[in-house]
Amino acid sequence: MDVRRVIAEGLQMRPPRLPVWFRYDMHGSLYNDKCLKNQHYYFYRSEVAVLSSNIQEIVDTVTTPVILVEMGSGNSEKTRSVIDVLLKKQTTLTYVPIDISADFLRETSESLSRDYAGCLDVKPVPGDYNVGIDKIRTIPGRKLIIWMGGGFQNQAYQTQITRLQSLAQFMTGDDRLLVAVDVTQEPKVVERAYRDPDDDAISGVIMEAVSTKHQTIVIPGLGLSLTFDADDKLRLHEGEYVSCKYTEAQLRHIAKRGGLSLSRIWTDADKHVALCCFSKGAGKQTS
Ligand SMILES: C[S@@+](CC[C@H](N)C(=O)[O-])C[C@H]1O[C@@H](n2cnc3c(N)ncnc32)[C@H](O)[C@@H]1O
Repeated sequence: MDVRRVIAEGLQMRPPRLPVWFRYDMHGSLYNDKCLKNQHYYFYRSEVAVLSSNIQEIVDTVTTPVILVEMGSGNSEKTRSVIDVLLKKQTTLTYVPIDISADFLRETSESLSRDYAGCLDVKPVPGDYNVGIDKIRTIPGRKLIIWMGGGFQNQAYQTQITRLQSLAQFMTGDDRLLVAVDVTQEPKVVERAYRDPDDDAISGVIMEAVSTKHQTIVIPGLGLSLTFDADDKLRLHEGEYVSCKYTEAQLRHIAKRGGLSLSRIWTDADKHVALCCFSKGAGKQTS
């Protein structure tokens, strides 16, 4: 990916925008972890609840031995429960975490390698999802691919579909893709969840930055000079929609467009999170 070109193009759009991944340097990754602890951020808690109540069934969707791949792995905290169950079914496990936040990924991988010494072979792939997909398509063997923490739904809608298509291209009938998505349908509950943990204001600061005055910002490295009026916004995501909330029908639709079948869904008691199991081929549809 030509990062300079992507950034320059985004900043020249109206309204100007930066891609979602741009905020994930070391500080951004740590800030993301902090946001998870916001008492109104239901997604994290519901995701943990879905995983812990169904972990055995979830892992049993794939035949072992398997290679575990994670898209946008972050701190890999929830992944540990998947690793623990897999390691009861196979003596060693290769784990391929993919994340654009290279320094954070390195630290997380080192800590996992220490904690699971002798049984976990961590092979981190620092880079964009496309880099990761190109890498995993070359790794032979059955795969369990997981995508948790809302990383999937934070992409532009068309990108969600093209990424499913890229995964479907190399997935075999034995591979499984598990994606956790938000299925909350009450707008007020959603708005509360995205408050900045350091501020009482609603989180425009997370999804968009607002110019407080008329100002011109010069970025010599990109050859750009940007003028913002007071109240002009800089979007911190690339699409029209961000952090999608899905109905089950929409999930089936997106699976079909991505060339996959939605073979199983687990939800939490509050119906906030759906952990979706996608597979290649017709698959049995249960929920
Ligand atoms: C919302 S966090 C989720 C982290 C973790 N999976 C979890 O469940 O807590 C999204 C993660 O995806 C990574 N990420 C965002 N955009 C990415 C991209 N385009 N390519 C690769 N990783 C990306 C971020 O660095 C971050 O670690």
